[in-house]
Amino acid sequence: MLDKLNEIEKSGLESLNTITDPTALEAWRVSTLGRSSPLMLVFSELGTLSKEERPVVGQAANRVKTALESAMDARAQILRAAALAKSLEQETLDVTLPGRRIGIGRLHPSTQQLRRVLAILAEMGFQVYTSPEVETDEMNFQLLNFPPHHPAREMQDSFYVEAGERGENPILMRTHTSPGQIHAMREYASKNPKDPPPVRIALPGMCFRYEQITARSEIQFNQVEGLAVGKGITFADLKGTLTDFARRMFGQGAHVRFRASYFPFTEPSAEMDVECFVCGGAGCPVCKGSGWLEILGCGMVHPIVLQNGGYDPKRYTGFAFGMGPERQWMLRYRINDIRTFWANDVRFLEQF
Ligand code: PHE
Repeated sequence: MLDKLNEIEKSGLESLNTITDPTALEAWRVSTLGRSSPLMLVFSELGTLSKEERPVVGQAANRVKTALESAMDARAQILRAAALAKSLEQETLDVTLPGRRIGIGRLHPSTQQLRRVLAILAEMGFQVYTSPEVETDEMNFQLLNFPPHHPAREMQDSFYVEAGERGENPILMRTHTSPGQIHAMREYASKNPKDPPPVRIALPGMCFRYEQITARSEIQFNQVEGLAVGKGITFADLKGTLTDFARRMFGQGAHVRFRASYFPFTEPSAEMDVECFVCGGAGCPVCKGSGWLEILGCGMVHPIVLQNGGYDPKRYTGFAFGMGPERQWMLRYRINDIRTFWANDVRFLEQF
């Protein structure tokens, strides 16, 4: 029996040393240490031995079993180390290769320009005041001195949200940020109706017009409106403020001009142009040969509008202006199609 055990140990260890892969190792385990292996047979035959022989053979069998098991573990260790060494050698990983770039989001061009305009106006003392994108006809038009059926409404065709029973006062998407003038003046005036505080605000946000969508006109766009109301404000303040704004926005050398215009809610009204920064005023396709780029509409707040806002036009005056950030961005980057702003094409957006 003892000889047989020695033989089992010796041949087991010998064959173990020739094993080079995990599958063969498992096969070895089954044939050498498995339930029907010669070694296990020795254990099951222990009962047939004599009292004296039994502990001797039992101990020897246990020793062989332990020896084979630890040799197997050692072998498994060697195989794992060899596999690792092999994969390190063959499946090389070049840690010096540049990594995959992570796509970093950024602000939409409209937001960037909107924030730039607001930052400049903030430096000049204008506080941001936000007002709703959905308005009544009264807010969007009537209180701004556009009575029902007034021809100036032609410039601002509207999207109606609810008309039906509402007669002359349907609900619509605001066509400009100017209704914010009424909201703001009324709120300020309510603080002290007899002697309302001065107003100096910027009204940013999306506006909507029922337009045919073309390279030059969209059904939605942003505006930034400015409003200053107080005692003794004159047209000179309007010109000075907007000239300063243009210099901060387009550079210290920016030249501007004011052209007479018409808006129902300002009187007198004007449009401000800046000298074309592409050709320096000589005339080019961007300014369509005129040398000037139209930047904003403006004017002195109409007495009726002041009144509607709760400010007595005999004691208060003010000026207002409105501009389009997308239009400014288009001029700055010579973009010739406004539809690119809402087309959601990253090839356009990722350029900025
Ligand atoms: N609300 C006018 C528009 O959308 C712009 C404007 C604002 C003009 C304020 C004068 C004063 O066309």
